[in-house]
Amino acid sequence: KRKVIIDCDPGIDDSLALLLAINSPELEILGITTCSGNVPAKMGAENALYTLHRFSNENIDVYVGEENPLKRELVTAQDTHGEDGLGENFYEILINKKIKCGGVDFIIETLKNNKDVSIIALGPLTNIAKALMKDKKAFNNLDEFISMGGAFRIHGNCSPVAEFNYWVDPHAADYVYKNLPKKIHMVGLDVTRKIVLTPNIIEFINRLDKDLAKYITQITRFYIDFHWEQEGIIGCVINDPLAVAYFINRSLCSGFESYVEIVEDGIAMGQSVVDSFNFYKKEPNSVVLTQTNEKEFMYMFLKRLFPSHVDK
Ligand code: BDR
Ligand code: CA
Repeated sequence: KRKVIIDCDPGIDDSLALLLAINSPELEILGITTCSGNVPAKMGAENALYTLHRFSNENIDVYVGEENPLKRELVTAQDTHGEDGLGENFYEILINKKIKCGGVDFIIETLKNNKDVSIIALGPLTNIAKALMKDKKAFNNLDEFISMGGAFRIHGNCSPVAEFNYWVDPHAADYVYKNLPKKIHMVGLDVTRKIVLTPNIIEFINRLDKDLAKYITQITRFYIDFHWEQEGIIGCVINDPLAVAYFINRSLCSGFESYVEIVEDGIAMGQSVVDSFNFYKKEPNSVVLTQTNEKEFMYMFLKRLFPSHVDK
């Protein structure tokens, strides 16, 4: 098993990523941390705990991290994910377990106390930047770092050039790209935009008589409406689960190593600038993923969530 911390901002697709993670025997989830992004950090933590409480038997703790981006004012994506971050189902948070505080310290302590921890970041990089600023040495123990974020050859989803996670906290993202002692696996929009829950898949899930199927149908409804209204797409793009899937199975995405920086302000704020032609002659700090096998991903995703209903 590989030890991981999942840093996230649930969020509809974050919740789907958590569902994939808890159904993946390769992972030992040491804890979940949240930062503000799709929703404020505390709400994200409650949502993570709700998903875990309902669908996992393991005792995984959830820690609230940073409530605000390093320098910018927080802009959430509640128009996309719903006021409650889970598609406006307003689930009753009936959990006797409490969310914990100190997400940043949890990241640092966990890295210090374990030799080979990886981090899968599914939201803005505020917690990671803060942890790095506080204790860079702890990151010597980091195994791998996967970040859902950025865009290389593809249009942004917050501006012509910026993807949401890096746009929300560009200063944190740039700090992490410049200071992390390991290469960042950038699972950006180039690959995640290919991961779509199509009407066929949704209809299929809809028909499965399981609490999990009901939950997925409920939380994605709002997201599907959003995609129709904003983009004229039937179905919804689910970004975050691909980062988890890629961590488990490297053959799901491919790309190239490159030097990347994140633009901190101005019209290109949040853009991930990928020096793919090596103009700046800098050591690569990232693996930029550009290709994915979306069918293999979807098979893995559905098979793990609904093992008795899915076969190739
Ligand atoms: C990212 O932004 C969020 O809305 C999603 O959860 C995902 O992490 C995609 O740009
Ligand atoms: Ca997210």
